[in-house]
Amino acid sequence: MDKLLLIDDEADVQYSFRRIFEGADIEVTTASGGEEGLKLIPQIKPDLVLMDVRMGGITGLETLRRIRQSDTKIPVILMTAYGTTQTAIEAMKLGAYDYLLKPFDVPKLKELVVNALKASRDMKQVVSYQPLLDSEDYALGIIGRSEPMQNVFKLIGQLAVSDATALITGESGTGKELVARAIYHHSRRSNQTFLAINCAAIPENLLESELFGHERGSFTGATNQRIGKFEQCNGGTIFLDEIGDMSLPTQAKILRVLQNGTFERVGGNQAITVDVRVIAATNKPLEQAVAKREFREDLFYRLNVVRIALPALRERRSDIRLLVDYFLKKIGETHKLGRKAFAPLAVAALENYDWPGNVRELENVVQRSMVVAKSDVILPQDLAPEFCVRSAGKPVERTEAAASTITASEPNSFSTIAEQLFRLARADTTLKVIPAVERELIVAALKETKGNQVQSAKLLGITRATLRKRMEKFKIRQELSIQ
Ligand SMILES: Nc1ncnc2c1ncn2[C@@H]1O[C@H](COP(=O)(O)OP(=O)(O)OP(=O)(O)O)[C@@H](O)[C@H]1O
Ligand SMILES: [Mg+2]
Repeated sequence: MDKLLLIDDEADVQYSFRRIFEGADIEVTTASGGEEGLKLIPQIKPDLVLMDVRMGGITGLETLRRIRQSDTKIPVILMTAYGTTQTAIEAMKLGAYDYLLKPFDVPKLKELVVNALKASRDMKQVVSYQPLLDSEDYALGIIGRSEPMQNVFKLIGQLAVSDATALITGESGTGKELVARAIYHHSRRSNQTFLAINCAAIPENLLESELFGHERGSFTGATNQRIGKFEQCNGGTIFLDEIGDMSLPTQAKILRVLQNGTFERVGGNQAITVDVRVIAATNKPLEQAVAKREFREDLFYRLNVVRIALPALRERRSDIRLLVDYFLKKIGETHKLGRKAFAPLAVAALENYDWPGNVRELENVVQRSMVVAKSDVILPQDLAPEFCVRSAGKPVERTEAAASTITASEPNSFSTIAEQLFRLARADTTLKVIPAVERELIVAALKETKGNQVQSAKLLGITRATLRKRMEKFKIRQELSIQ
């Protein structure tokens, strides 16, 4: 559960915050002044602090300054009444995450809190690359042993020790954001701010002001001066996600920041200097956008100095099993679904699928299967129908498809199955491997013969009566709905 610390001396505000975040999986602790808040921070280790600017005792600004002396990262949102916005702006320069005007607009407050909590998590949860699945701190890692992923890890390592700009490309769900966070966590800026901005999610006309801030009156609606992300993130790292969606004038400003670290706020004429590392990502082919003059060529070359091109999951099928194990463990723990495992045939079906949504889709499939599976072992029947389509794209019968995953695989498929069963046995000590193999063989034979018991018995080299007994023992008939 996320922890929010509210520092405000008004009982009304404390009460309404508890009401607003009730049932939202956010634990609210309150302090009535700066001193009390500062004492509480090391005790409760909040993920986010919301604080009034004007309070009795030490001011909000002084409290923020003291928070920053011991913690450079915890997001602090300041709350201010009209007329004190200048103080709020100073607070932003001191490293506040954002500020809110009183009286609150509740949906806006909630949105800001959700975003700040994400920023807090991004900075706190260290993304490790090449994590060990059986180690304690595997919790957030980039999984993959295939060759293309080994190259990705090498580049992350190189980028982490340098301060260079990086461009991360790859289809949706391949892990671009995860890689950006890994670079940050292993860089010398890891104790400074990390801010992720999704350029596609912010309306074009507001993005420039979001990134660079604006002066009062610079456009309709700009009633106050605003500090942008680049200023706020001075010393830290900015992740510009979906950079391909940025307008040409904003691109020009980004180029200038990259070249000499300066920019002007929208409507301003004073050059501001910052030291910010930029990591950009896109799932659009930027080369094409450059050819169509939708993306500045000079900016493209400036970003493309070091590029990490993430492979699609179908280009690294050998990692699928590893990822499945990782998500089984991670989802089992975070969603309290216990330890579950995929039956070898189900894993084979996952390995044969094309994964247009890449790792994100795989994560969703594992979660869904864990929820719908009736036992601790997830069977091919627990998977959605699309997993019964052969790689060539020709739809086949469900039961036949699962069997085809054995017959159509490479010569080492038997050792693959054995390996999977051993893994299951290690996770679940009650699993008996030899009967499990026997069961898989019977199921495969029945699928091969479309449920014909005479032919199956012949294939297996046993009598029909023995086959029947085994089917009963292993409850095969009910599960496969074989007639
Ligand atoms: N190699 C990996 N190991 C473990 N988890 C991964 C890996 N790659 C991606 N994920 C997980 O898959 C999900 C999608 O990853 P992420 O958000 O980084 O993708 P993306 O490339 O930014 O996608 P999009 O283009 O849609 O924004 C996340 O939950 C992430 O943790
Ligand atoms: Mg992304």
